[in-house]
Amino acid sequence: MKKEKEKNYRYPFYDQIVNSSTAAIRSVYEHFDRADEAPTEETVAGWITLSSDPRADVTLPMYRVAKHLGQPPATVSGLAVDDLKRQEQAREPTEQHCTYNFEGGYVNRLFKPDHFAQELLPDILSSSSYGSDTEGQGRNVVIDFSSPNIAKPFGVGHLRSTVIGNALYHIFEKLGYNSIGINHLGDWGTQFGKMIVAFKHWGSDEMLKDDPVRALFNLYTKFHREAKENPELDDEARAEFKRLEEGEEEATRLWKRFKDYSLEEFNRIYDILGIRFDYNTGESFYNDKIDSTISLLEEKNLPEISQEALIVNLEKYDLGACLLKKGDDATLYATRDLAGILYRHDEFDFAKCLYVVGASQALHFKQVFKVIELAGYDFSDGLVHVPFGWIRFEEKAMSTREGNIIFLDDVISQAKEIARKIIIEKNPDIEDVDKTAEQIGVGAVVFAQTSVRRMKDIDFRWEDALSFEGETGPYLQYTHARLCSLARKYDRQLPDTIGYDLFVEPEEKNVLLTLSRYPDKISQAASEYEPFVISAYLIDLAQEFNTFYQKHRIITDDEPLTAARMCLSEAVRIVIADGLAILGIAALERM
Ligand code: ARG
Repeated sequence: MKKEKEKNYRYPFYDQIVNSSTAAIRSVYEHFDRADEAPTEETVAGWITLSSDPRADVTLPMYRVAKHLGQPPATVSGLAVDDLKRQEQAREPTEQHCTYNFEGGYVNRLFKPDHFAQELLPDILSSSSYGSDTEGQGRNVVIDFSSPNIAKPFGVGHLRSTVIGNALYHIFEKLGYNSIGINHLGDWGTQFGKMIVAFKHWGSDEMLKDDPVRALFNLYTKFHREAKENPELDDEARAEFKRLEEGEEEATRLWKRFKDYSLEEFNRIYDILGIRFDYNTGESFYNDKIDSTISLLEEKNLPEISQEALIVNLEKYDLGACLLKKGDDATLYATRDLAGILYRHDEFDFAKCLYVVGASQALHFKQVFKVIELAGYDFSDGLVHVPFGWIRFEEKAMSTREGNIIFLDDVISQAKEIARKIIIEKNPDIEDVDKTAEQIGVGAVVFAQTSVRRMKDIDFRWEDALSFEGETGPYLQYTHARLCSLARKYDRQLPDTIGYDLFVEPEEKNVLLTLSRYPDKISQAASEYEPFVISAYLIDLAQEFNTFYQKHRIITDDEPLTAARMCLSEAVRIVIADGLAILGIAALERM
């Protein structure tokens, strides 16, 4: 995984760093009797850079000062370092954590690991809220995600929306927002006319007995094949959908049956994934809200008739036409989304309403959001399409219409089988193999969805996704299980007071530094709507920990050192478990 560039990363003691740096620079200006020209704290904050160089955590570009004062860089750097050392000596010995050097116009500060340990460990170990924030308090974020289509199988395409949406749900909750998850089921539209026609022609109760969703899907693909030869089928389907929209009894009964079968199937999948929604209000929920939506748009003079259809012309914005009603009065996907936005705004007064939907629907969302903006609703800037790329499954692209869709169910079963083989080999005594294999299989499939930035396509390969050593869900689960096994081996309460000065190893410092980044990763993931930030971070943390663990023993005869290292390990375990929960992956205790 490529390391992400750090954004707005706040170091522990960052304010103190800025403060002491400003004072040191000021002392240099004072030395040359030019105190009134010294830069402000704000300016100095902009100069400071945080580096990952093993010789420097923080660098201060003193060449700027040298240039301004017309003095040699070595002189001003030397004076600044003297002052920083003086400041440090004035502090309590327990707060003296730095070493200093200067080189090529830069003053470098290197912190001892205990500095980070003292700042972070009590925080992580004592509360369950490390990484949380209150910035979103009292505000609602609506997240429209998953949203599969009734009477079609839940394919791996909807899986990506489900995983990204669920992660964003937890990420925003962590920032104090009230997340509202809505499954905008595709349970209305002309395709139901087709389904009804197909069922009437070729379906039977008998064939819906075992696997109704697959049977319905086969009928649906049959319809498309047959309609190529027999275009009258399409007219029939349109008529059937019209009957459905008018509430005709038989059509409604069939539709309801298709929907119930599908929901049962979807809920089984959501259970396996451990996902829940606050609302399962699909497209049909808006049927009785369409007329009022169109009236509101008419009040703003937006709709017009074009080729018998009712549209909002968006030519001016290079967005074509947003279709509200077809010539036969049938409503459309966009109409229901418009009604949905107005309803959600009335109901939830959202700060943001996110739509986690594939990138192929970008134009649709641009059109719908534009119509809301043109209607004069100022909340339109809270509407966000969160798009994502395709999943290629061992080379094969997903497409529902072709009928060569890959069923999520099959994917999960296969993942589970592979996981079962691996764990039995690794740990033949493991209890509850079935449950563990399922959690690892699901963990692998779920993690793969956020293993790259969301706009990137995913090349799903079994071997990659299920490797215990690669950058995968099972690798994180395995690291977590190892940490749990350490705790079982230690088998004691963690001490109340930690010997912070026992942390001296660079590998410990790297683990601590990585731990300190977690809160900023959460904010970054939220502001970019990008769960990958969390995935990449967790891999980084697990790798840093495993590097430390490979090089140093944790449980030894040295009691205080063991205790200190156990505290560090427990902090890592807590953060990995928290991150996995955000992504929707089970943190296993044994595997
Ligand atoms: N059911 C749609 C599809 O599978 C996705 C719906 C997304 N949400 C929305 N409000 N349009 O393509």
